[in-house]
Amino acid sequence: MTDQASKTAPAAKKLFIKTYGCQMNVYDSQRMAEAMSAEGYELTEDQAQADMVLLNTCHIREKAAEKLYSDLGRLKPLKAENPDLKIGVAGCVAQAEGEEIVRRMPLVDLVVGPQTYHRLPEMLRGEAPKILTDFPEEDKFDHLPQRRATRRAPAAFLTVQEGCDKFCAFCVVPYTRGAEVSRPVERILREARDLVERGVREITLLGQNVNGWHGAGEDGREWGFGRLIRALGEIEGLDRIRYTTSHPNDMADDLIAAHRDVPQLMPYLHLPVQSGSDRILKAMNRKHTATQYLRLIDRIREARPDIMLTSDFIVGFPGETDQDHADTLRLIEKVGFGTAFSFKYSPRPGTPAYERAEVDTAVADARLQELQALLTRQQKATQESMVGRSLGVLFEKPGRIDGQMVGKSDYLHSVFVDAPDAQIGDLVPVRIVESARNSLRGELAA
Ligand code: SAH
Ligand code: SF4
Ligand code: F3S
Repeated sequence: MTDQASKTAPAAKKLFIKTYGCQMNVYDSQRMAEAMSAEGYELTEDQAQADMVLLNTCHIREKAAEKLYSDLGRLKPLKAENPDLKIGVAGCVAQAEGEEIVRRMPLVDLVVGPQTYHRLPEMLRGEAPKILTDFPEEDKFDHLPQRRATRRAPAAFLTVQEGCDKFCAFCVVPYTRGAEVSRPVERILREARDLVERGVREITLLGQNVNGWHGAGEDGREWGFGRLIRALGEIEGLDRIRYTTSHPNDMADDLIAAHRDVPQLMPYLHLPVQSGSDRILKAMNRKHTATQYLRLIDRIREARPDIMLTSDFIVGFPGETDQDHADTLRLIEKVGFGTAFSFKYSPRPGTPAYERAEVDTAVADARLQELQALLTRQQKATQESMVGRSLGVLFEKPGRIDGQMVGKSDYLHSVFVDAPDAQIGDLVPVRIVESARNSLRGELAA
C-alpha cells in the first residue's frame, strides 16, 4: 500500500493461517478467514508480515499434534520483535489440549475449538474468554458472517455433517469434534447455489461421517445422504459432486443407487476399512467384518462399475499378529484400490486403545512398508489403466510449463494438459496419454 492510500483508508490488518490435518480444517480455515475479514483482516501468505497468526491444528496422530508445539516455538522471535502480534490456536489440538497449550506456550493469545470459532472476533476484542473449547448449543454456521460475493476457485469444499458417534478405539475425532450433527438441507442447498454463482463447478461435501448425514428435507420428510446428493444434482451449473469421509456402515441403499443415477456424482469413493482382519476390526470397534466390507464393495461396483475406491489403513494396531496383517493384505488384493492412505498406529491419550500393549515398532514399520508397496503397485496399475481413456478434467491452475494447465480428472488424479487457450474453470474432455508417479498427462480431445 502506498503512503497516499494509507492516509485515506486504514491499512487492513494481515492474517496468516496455517492449516494442518483434514479437508474439514481447510474448510474451517476459510470460514475463519471470512469471519476475520469482517473485522478488517485480510489474508497474507507471508507469516513475517502478519498481525495475527492462526494455527488450525490436527490431533489425529501424535506427530500431527507435536507439530503445533514446534511451530509455536518458531514463532517466539517473531513475537519478541512484534509484541502486538496475536497468536491463536484453533482446531482439534485446541479442543483436546485447551489450557495445556497456553501453559506450555505462554505466547499464545487465544485458543478456540472447532465448534466455537464463530466467536473469534469477540475473543480478539477481549469480549470473550481467551480459551473457548465448549460445545455450544448454537450452530456456529448460523453465527458466521455471510460470505462476500467474491469469485471462487472452481472446486470447493462444503461441510454438511460434523462430529462422530462411532468411537473407533484408536480415534480422537469423537472427542475433538463432538457428536454427529447434520446441517439442515436448505442451508446446504443455499450454500451450494451461492458457491456455483461464484464460479464453483465442483463441490466436495465434507463430514467426519459424511454419509451418515440426514435431515428434514424440503418435502418435510426425513432425507438420507443419497437424497441430498440427488437434490444437489439438480443445481444448474454444478457439474461435479464428491464426498468424504464415509463409514462403511452408513453406505445406505439409496446412496449406492445415487452412484448409478446421478451423473454429476464422480466415480470415486473414499471408504476407509482400516484393517482386513475380523479380530482387529472388532478390537477397533469398527462394527463390521472384512466380508461385509467386501460385499458392500461388490454392491457399489454393481451400481457404478467404473468407480475407483480408496481407503485408509492402520498398521500395528495393538494385538495385530502376522496373520492379521496377512488378512489386510488379502483384502487389499481382493478390492484393488486406486490409492490409499496408510498409517502406523499412534496411541492417543483418552482413547480406549491408548492403554493397550503396542506392537513392536520394527515389526509395525516392516508391515507398513509391505502394505504401502502393495498399495503403490495398485495405484500404478490404476493410473496406467487410465491411459488411452478420455476423461473430464476441470482446470484448476496453470502448470509450470508455458501454455500448460493442471486439473483433476473424474477420478481425482492430477492431469497436466497442454492447453494454451484454456481458462481456469474449464471442464473439458482429455485423452490420457501417460501415467507419471503421482499424476497423469493428457491431450485435449479433438
Ligand atoms: N472419519 C474418518 C477418518 C478420520 S481420521 C473415517 O472414519 O474414516 C483419518 C484416518 O486417520 C483414519 O481413517 C485412520 O486411518 C487414521 N487414524 C485415526 N486415528 C489414528 C491413530 N490413532 N493412529 C494412526 N492412524 C489413525
Ligand atoms: Fe474416527 Fe472412527 Fe469416527 Fe472415523 S468413524 S472419525 S475413524 S471414530
Ligand atoms: Fe485432524 Fe481434527 Fe481433521 S484431528 S483429521 S483436523 S477432524
